[in-house]
Amino acid sequence: MGIVSLFAHSQSILSPSKELKLDFSLSADGSPVYSLVYKTKPVIEESKLGIAIKDAQALISGFEVLLTEQTNFSGEWKPVLGETQSITNNYSQLTVQLLQKASGRKVNLTFRLFDEGLAFRYEFPQQDKLNYFIVSQEITEFNLAGDHKAFWIPGDFDSQEYVYNETRLSEINVNKLDMNNGIGFKGPMTQTRVQSPLMMKSSDKLYLNIFEAAVINYPVMHLKLEPETFTFRADLAPNAIGDLAYLQAPFNTPWRTVMVSDDARDILASKMILNLNEPSKIDDTSWIKPMKYVGIWWEMHVGKATWDYAGSQNAQNTTNELKPTGKHGATTENTKKYIDFAAKHEFDGVLVEGWNVGWEDWFGNWKEEVFDFVTPYPDFDVKALTAYAKQKNVKLIMHHETSGSVTNYERRLDRAFDFMKANGYDAVKTGYVGKIIPRGEWHDGQAMVNHFNYVVMRAAEKKIMVNSHESSRPTGVHRTYPNYIAAEAARGNEFNAWSSGNPPMHETILPFTRLLGGPMDYTPGIFEGKMSFYDKSKKEQVHTTLAKQLALYVTMYSPLQMAADLPENYERHLDAFQFIKDVSVDWDDTKILEAEPGDYITIARKTKGKESWFVGSITDENARKTSIALDFLSPRKKYKAIVYEDGKDAHWEKNPKSYSIRTIEVTSKSRINLSLAAGGGTAISIEPTK
Ligand code: NOJ
Ligand code: CA
Repeated sequence: MGIVSLFAHSQSILSPSKELKLDFSLSADGSPVYSLVYKTKPVIEESKLGIAIKDAQALISGFEVLLTEQTNFSGEWKPVLGETQSITNNYSQLTVQLLQKASGRKVNLTFRLFDEGLAFRYEFPQQDKLNYFIVSQEITEFNLAGDHKAFWIPGDFDSQEYVYNETRLSEINVNKLDMNNGIGFKGPMTQTRVQSPLMMKSSDKLYLNIFEAAVINYPVMHLKLEPETFTFRADLAPNAIGDLAYLQAPFNTPWRTVMVSDDARDILASKMILNLNEPSKIDDTSWIKPMKYVGIWWEMHVGKATWDYAGSQNAQNTTNELKPTGKHGATTENTKKYIDFAAKHEFDGVLVEGWNVGWEDWFGNWKEEVFDFVTPYPDFDVKALTAYAKQKNVKLIMHHETSGSVTNYERRLDRAFDFMKANGYDAVKTGYVGKIIPRGEWHDGQAMVNHFNYVVMRAAEKKIMVNSHESSRPTGVHRTYPNYIAAEAARGNEFNAWSSGNPPMHETILPFTRLLGGPMDYTPGIFEGKMSFYDKSKKEQVHTTLAKQLALYVTMYSPLQMAADLPENYERHLDAFQFIKDVSVDWDDTKILEAEPGDYITIARKTKGKESWFVGSITDENARKTSIALDFLSPRKKYKAIVYEDGKDAHWEKNPKSYSIRTIEVTSKSRINLSLAAGGGTAISIEPTK
């Protein structure tokens, strides 16, 4: 009785499985709070909710409950491209309509409880006392029950291209990080601010993840830790003048999410983030296709070729005269070579970077008009290449590096897209390297979130697929705009070419963090991983074995996958390359067989519309032995499995290219023993025998 009287109002809901319980209450002073329990264990202890608005009374206390409503939802839908053929969407919902008596303003809180976690958002209904308003702070708290282990990257408003730190919450300290990490442009950071998705593990072995879904017309949510209480508070990326978001009622914020399970595989299998986004707004999706591609790309990253025609990548060339240096990668001849290679090995696309003028001084000078996105360099014959690609049944993939100049890109966007369509391109890789123009904006602010979504929407009108690099990280919006087929928005494979690189555990964490929001263009498939191959003096290298590069095609879901290495490097290892040729990128089913963030992941996926399966297994810096049951195969069928594995002496650093390939006959009753080298992996293709 005593407890009840502390609150003006209290209410609970259970997840469909009844294993999760959400408690909502309004404290005696009318402040909304929530807490979350999983199988009797506290996950989120009493935490505040609310939004402060500029020049007005904060929407955090003085509320009364007008009405509450509880509903259940159970549905199913089919993604256009995805990891499974259909997705179930089951949750219990509680909506609480609040009125702040003093201001006469209304806010609704909607909570959805799925089996894998909680989601909630603020809804501002249309009302007399609240029309236009500016968010000055979001009070949302996540008061965690202990000093969990966390996989965190600093809360930089301009970049997510960091390696993960694995520490306890109490040890989070951005100021102690080595910032000599290859990231050219870093935004503001503070000591205990980290990014979401934030993956954690408690000492009683609960896997927890804090993230958000459906970020539309709102800044990206970072998380600032209060170390004494293990409480995170939402920390939104501001704009150039310090405001967070300009809104007009009616408006719903993005969903704030807390996933929890005692089985790490449930986090990877969860479709909660997608389910919280709106259904597709594109009626005819027949033009949205999965793609495997090669490209004039890695040769620039390894220093063999340049993006620019005349400036040798010093980014300081100020002359207007274009004098070729002879190292330009995007030539007509080289592009034909890649088209031939793609056609021969049945790839869908060829990306060509550095095709257009502007690269001589492309970043770092706050220059607004760098690229026009329609003028090729003199040695790149667009018309001839369009015809050549068409004849070879290969699609050219457009590249729009904006170098952060969004004003320039938006002005030119329609012309750039029309140029693409006129020349047969139907996919674009966008890029946002450098500081944002309008000057003072961050990549994660409301204006930039709107820009990234705007580009995808305009592209949809023109039937163009988008793969964004250096954008804010996705939050499932590709359910609504399935033409948003991939994004980078994390530290990709390219960092291994020219920086301290990605430690072997990196790829075992990304599926628990970045990939929860959507597919990543990680660009796997590097066979010649030591940069000394190109230049004896170089020490940089890929931090995986060759076999692990193959396994990444399965563990790192994306309907857009690059075979990132140079054609000549594949020609020397055609037996291993066969896996990249065979592997699917669009799936009927996915089984997360084993998973432990920071340690290992094993996933099996069934090709869309076919009986074939692919398995990928990866480990961190520790060698690993495991055995997997193939009970996901159809009973009474015989299959041929080709196992691409680390050689006996393989090691990511000392001997990454040691691999072996064996072919065996298997059924649903078989087990396969896997032996992964340090930083290694295994990739398996499984085809029914006739
Ligand atoms: C960074 C991107 O991540 C990379 O893929 C691209 O090649 C360069 N920017 C140049 O646009
Ligand atoms: Ca990048």
